[in-house]
Amino acid sequence: MTKFYVTTPIYYINGLPHIGHVFTTVLSDAIARYHRLLGHDVFFLTGTDEHGQKAEKAAREVGVSPQELADRIVPSFRDLWKQLNISNTDFIRTTEERHRRGVAEIFHRSHANGDIYLGAYEGWYCTFDENFLTEGQLVNGNCPDCHRPVEKIKEESYFFRLSKYQEPLLKYYRENSDFIVPHSRSNEVISFVESGLRDLSVSRVKLKWGIPVPIDSSHVIYVWFDALSNYVTATGFPDNQQLYQSYWPADLHVIGKDIVRFHCVYWPAFLLSAALPLPKQVLVHGWWLKEDEKISKSRGNVVDPHSLIKTFGVDGLRYFLIREAPIEGDSNYSFETILRRVNSDLANDLGNLSSRVLTMIERYSSGKIPEIAQSNAPFRSSLEDVVARIPEYTAAFTFSRLLVDVWSVVNSINRYIVEEQPWVLAKDPASQQRLQQVLYNSCEGLRIIAGLVAPVIPQSADLIWQQIGISKRASEANIGDLKWGELSPGTPIGKITPIFPRIEAPAAETVPQKPAEKKQDDSSHATIEDFQKLGLKVGEIKNAEKISGSKKLLKLSVDLGSETRQLVAGIAEVYAPEDLIGKQVIVVSNLKPTRIMGVESNGMVLAASIDGKPVLASVSQKVPNGTIVK
Ligand code: ME8
Ligand code: MG
Repeated sequence: MTKFYVTTPIYYINGLPHIGHVFTTVLSDAIARYHRLLGHDVFFLTGTDEHGQKAEKAAREVGVSPQELADRIVPSFRDLWKQLNISNTDFIRTTEERHRRGVAEIFHRSHANGDIYLGAYEGWYCTFDENFLTEGQLVNGNCPDCHRPVEKIKEESYFFRLSKYQEPLLKYYRENSDFIVPHSRSNEVISFVESGLRDLSVSRVKLKWGIPVPIDSSHVIYVWFDALSNYVTATGFPDNQQLYQSYWPADLHVIGKDIVRFHCVYWPAFLLSAALPLPKQVLVHGWWLKEDEKISKSRGNVVDPHSLIKTFGVDGLRYFLIREAPIEGDSNYSFETILRRVNSDLANDLGNLSSRVLTMIERYSSGKIPEIAQSNAPFRSSLEDVVARIPEYTAAFTFSRLLVDVWSVVNSINRYIVEEQPWVLAKDPASQQRLQQVLYNSCEGLRIIAGLVAPVIPQSADLIWQQIGISKRASEANIGDLKWGELSPGTPIGKITPIFPRIEAPAAETVPQKPAEKKQDDSSHATIEDFQKLGLKVGEIKNAEKISGSKKLLKLSVDLGSETRQLVAGIAEVYAPEDLIGKQVIVVSNLKPTRIMGVESNGMVLAASIDGKPVLASVSQKVPNGTIVK
């Protein structure tokens, strides 16, 4: 059996999962599931990156130990993946003993190979990216990647002879032209390596939160050396040789474009040094943006996956992410796009097809798959074509294209039904055979379609198969099950329930209607449009904390239904942070983002002011978060 080993990055534990993490994980899950459909033996790994200065700092801010912080955050990742039907085989935490042992072994091997030496590091460190930087790399004195201030460090450090691997790396890229995809990313990496590699600092002496350097316990191993090794240690290296031998090297690392250098330069160099085989491929995807900015916890513009799941369902979210996937470039996220996608593709097209076909079978064929002599349909060959091309879509990660091609068949079948008019055929005793043929064809098409999209929307695909009366799960189908004609006549269909209900836009999210009246030409009055421009919405305070160095300011995170906003409010003298959690407030949502005392503020809460003391404005009864105030 062909094995396929795919990984996601292991995520930092200094924040909760957001839509960016969800995208990488859902994409990797779809890849894993298409490989299973093709009959491959899949090992699919995800996990958490728990060591390093960034985790230590985050823990200090919350006032707990880094281990405690990790223990608190890890369940939010695990539970979210479970909720999203992520089919990972394993979940690795870098604080696990199995990982520590593996990292120590890799370090040992590299050391034994003469690639580790003690020196002194003098330069800059970006805690946010956990990255060592030279003076020349800084941009206006800041980190060239995240633009944050960097800190100067001067300490004893173990170095890794990265310089020694410049040629071997270039050779590997040359001989494996698909190592980095898309190829545009590969060119970036090659020119970086060609421009010369300096040895890399791989230990920190001042940091305690990490894996001790095996040959010198006064140092801990640099967090990226530790983190990257997870891909090997999770296969049981070095203790479980059998598991390790069956799966390593990884077939695919899926990552975002922020961490290319670590995966495509450092990681293969560490492996070469430890004489371990190199991963076969790295898929680098682009970013989800909001209003043209990268979505990230540090920017405070995160889109909370839980509220999207609540509104669109697990499969609505999964479908949207894969259909609109930013693989080559970046994509702008917006509530309107997901709403439109889910309603048009899922509720209207596929949902409609499924309920129509099943209802007609119930009505015109006594709830059983019709008996037919032989079946053929005008859309049969397009469907067979898509099935035959699964290996191609899978290898090229063109799942969005696959969905477009499947939807063109969904639409063909919907048209076919309209043209054949089964409801008319049903009334004519002479047309019974034709009717059965139409019903069988449509249902067989629906069955194969569900099987084809099961890796993207597993729960709904299972539901479709269940309603057709198939005992196997669509999400466990094999490619052979997707052959035309496998649907057995006589099978009783299951209970029909709606699969993709139409999503009504919450009031707050409907696009404002075009004002009918002409704008009044009176500058002393605000017009309705002026007022609407403010975007007043009801939001619920999910988190509140003091901003250090300020008596008045609180940093709030407010749930606006479709998104969670970070904003700064001057209410700390009157309101204690813990009393605010769960309160609904009125938010001016369309204010230009600004920074207050270095903290990003994306909106404003309304308050009355009595003797300069704020009294928060609210609604007189609880309403859904995001409700528009007008
Ligand atoms: O970098 N759009 O962890 P991390 C798309 N621990 N993807 C996004 C995204 C966005 N706006 N934001 C985040 C780390 N991602 C290290 C990795 S691996 C050995 C160690 C996704 O929590 C994307 O996959 O910062 C990105 O590479 C990853 O989350 C970074 O997650
Ligand atoms: Mg990051």
